[in-house]
Amino acid sequence: MPEQPGRRPLPHLRHPQSHDMIAAVLHTPQFQPARYQCFDLKPLSGALGAEITGTRLDQLDERLVSEIEAALADHLVLAFRDIDLSPESQVALARRLGNVIEWPYATPMADYPELTELVSGPRDVNNFGGSWHTDSSTFENPPKYTLLYCVDCPSVGGDTSFANQYLAWDTLPEDVKTDLEGLRLVHSTKRGFGDHSRATGSASATTTPVSVPTQHENLVSVHPVARTHPVTGKKALYVNSGFSSQFEGWSEEESQPLRDALGAHGAIPEFTCRVTWRPGTLLIWDNRCALHYAHNDYRGQNRTMRRAVVEGERPI
Ligand SMILES: [Fe+2]
Repeated sequence: MPEQPGRRPLPHLRHPQSHDMIAAVLHTPQFQPARYQCFDLKPLSGALGAEITGTRLDQLDERLVSEIEAALADHLVLAFRDIDLSPESQVALARRLGNVIEWPYATPMADYPELTELVSGPRDVNNFGGSWHTDSSTFENPPKYTLLYCVDCPSVGGDTSFANQYLAWDTLPEDVKTDLEGLRLVHSTKRGFGDHSRATGSASATTTPVSVPTQHENLVSVHPVARTHPVTGKKALYVNSGFSSQFEGWSEEESQPLRDALGAHGAIPEFTCRVTWRPGTLLIWDNRCALHYAHNDYRGQNRTMRRAVVEGERPI
């Protein structure tokens, strides 16, 4: 690509990355988890994620909420098992974690404007979130936390995988990290939800219809390629491949090779954990430093999830 005056060249990312580099960086809290007074915690992989047992979420005292926030900062994804979470309790927990925002792309649950029920039915071909992504990065202040509760799921299939984007950033070659400093990505609703637009009329892909309101059809936000987490102070790769159209100042065509390479780098298996759902499981994850991927391997089955999202900060 010819270099133009005033435009610096995009960095080249060698892929696949060296396994030495990937193995050299550990996410320490997975190996040295803190002890908590309100629950038991068991890490799910070397990269991220923890399973939480021994607590209820319908009585929220200060210590429990602060321990949940501390465990999220360390492990990025928490799986609470065998809890009976009412819609009221889910909203109450989400509110304790921050400002709960409505998701404008589906009709909220009756009587619960802060909750969305995501239903996959036996005739569905597509699922919700079936690609590596973070939630709603097209917003100026994208959600920091997603709280997803399993009401019903198949006996097998429909797992969700997560990927630690601190590890993704830390394992990039130093020269690439230097070149990425200050680079920003354009996150576009049209790219992420283009086929759900009301204008194109294909809103019936899932049992819970997803459709983009007219005022959101051209929603675009520009965020840094690497963002600094406001709680941990650590840098995380922030490339949402499904929603990121191009680097700021570059065409989509020019941007595609690096965008795709960074997207693939962020999903290296060593950076991931995988959660198998069962009814009564609540997952909370941090969209500022983790990607997620909903496995679409349960054709013909029913799956019902209930979701709340908590607003985050403008990425910096
Ligand atoms: Fe998602």
